[in-house]
Amino acid sequence: MSRSEGSAAPVLVRLDDVSKRFPGVVAVSGVHLDVRAGEVHVLAGENGAGKSTLMKLVAQVEEPSSGTVEVDGRPVSYRGPAAARRLGISMVHQEFALAPDLSVAENLFIGHEPGSAGWISRSAEREQARALLKRVGLHVDPARPVGKLSTAQQQRVELAKALAVEAKLLILDEPTATLTEQETAELFGIVRELTAAGIGVLYISHRLDEIFEIGDRVTVLRDGEVVATRPVAELDESRLVALMVGRDVQNLYPRTYTDPGEVRLRVRGLSRGAAVRDVSFEVRAGEIVGMAGLVGAGRTELARSVFGAEPPDSGSVELDGRELKIRGPADAIAAGIGYLTESRKSDGLALQLGVDKNITLAKLPMMGGLIDLGAERRVAQRERDRLRIRVPNIGRPVQALSGGNQQKVVLARWLQTEAEVLLFDEPGRGMDVGAKSEMFGQLDALAVDGKAVVLISSYLPELLNMCDRILVLREGRITGELERAEFSEERIVALATGAREDQ
Ligand SMILES: Nc1ncnc2c1ncn2[C@@H]1O[C@H](COP(=O)(O)OP(=O)(O)OP(=O)(O)O)[C@@H](O)[C@H]1O
Ligand SMILES: [Mg+2]
Repeated sequence: MSRSEGSAAPVLVRLDDVSKRFPGVVAVSGVHLDVRAGEVHVLAGENGAGKSTLMKLVAQVEEPSSGTVEVDGRPVSYRGPAAARRLGISMVHQEFALAPDLSVAENLFIGHEPGSAGWISRSAEREQARALLKRVGLHVDPARPVGKLSTAQQQRVELAKALAVEAKLLILDEPTATLTEQETAELFGIVRELTAAGIGVLYISHRLDEIFEIGDRVTVLRDGEVVATRPVAELDESRLVALMVGRDVQNLYPRTYTDPGEVRLRVRGLSRGAAVRDVSFEVRAGEIVGMAGLVGAGRTELARSVFGAEPPDSGSVELDGRELKIRGPADAIAAGIGYLTESRKSDGLALQLGVDKNITLAKLPMMGGLIDLGAERRVAQRERDRLRIRVPNIGRPVQALSGGNQQKVVLARWLQTEAEVLLFDEPGRGMDVGAKSEMFGQLDALAVDGKAVVLISSYLPELLNMCDRILVLREGRITGELERAEFSEERIVALATGAREDQ
């Protein structure tokens, strides 16, 4: 039984026929939506469906092109995010907006310090900071610089910051994308406490299991329009997927298992500082080898070391029995190793350049020393159709794309290279279910083609369904290796946390 069942709970925010147009795109079209006190209202839909834009309209980060937004029954006119915060509407963006050099307490109160007449009372600040941090279950010294905290801890600071202004409505845009299962469970605990206290939550997620776990109602968007608003209890996974994509997705994790061939990638005794410690493993032709572990376990650092982005202190990397001399990513790419980075914003994409240029960047089609523009366009269009990248014009700058569509561009680029070994670091992050299933189909095709694939993911169903073997890392070391027959969530979690399995 949902907390918000019936109409007892007051409506906090109501959208009436709200639209938002960008040049060439209608991002949100004629949306009617309400959020009630104490409910978790999920927004679901494919990449580019308009979820983030809709939330930005509520948080007054963007101004609607038409329609009205009511808060507590009163229509509001657009005055920017600070005005929305004063009305009790706070948004936690996926890309955090924290100042890394400032302390936790300073970050919490930027722009609205406690104390009167412009005088900032440090002791009052610390006191309030402690109370807020307690509310979000974060036990760190408020004087600590934010830059020293883990991603999950930084997110708690963002949450605390959102609550610092007497929030009535909390907006969370894909909050679990960078969290492990454990951290996700903790976040849900906090969300439940907030809703029990009457706060309404607008929640974006691509993860079906968590929509069912945390959501009371779900509104599905497609092409900017509301397809349906339903109590979550009335839906099941397949019905939700059908609403989201408007077609049947048969198999979320397509995988053709073949007998693995020769060893292609062999890593021996690789170390780098404290992040990667004496790691050895092999990947055979046709294999997809998963890497599990908590955030910070060293999986990304390991991949970056193999790729030469952070050259190792010691150890060796062999491809097809040949030891490689990798001084940087250019050497790795030349040798046939590709790495799809987890942080597409910082080192994955040229945001100013067009989708076409970004796709062909790793391997520009050349004709007599010149870039073959016709071929570039054909390749880019083929990839756009194959991965359903939502962009009105292939030459459009990548920065105008929605988060999930940007990720698809990075993927399309790596599929162009003729790499023999591919390292995928959280490739499904931010992708909708349909796009993910296509992407995994591509990974499977690479394996069938005899390539060696490494898949790093914090989402266990992806690893359990796509991999031949799973390596578990903890504190820079491999703590276990599981064959398919031994796969289980419990085992992986135990190896990743160091807990004993039989407890
Ligand atoms: N500032 C902008 N300028 C131009 N177009 C934009 C802008 N912001 C969003 N869009 C477009 O609006 C549409 C909706 O984007 P939005 O980011 O809301 O999607 P989303 O549902 O959040 O997708 P995702 O799941 O990938 O995060 C997309 O076609 C996107 O390219
Ligand atoms: Mg989005």
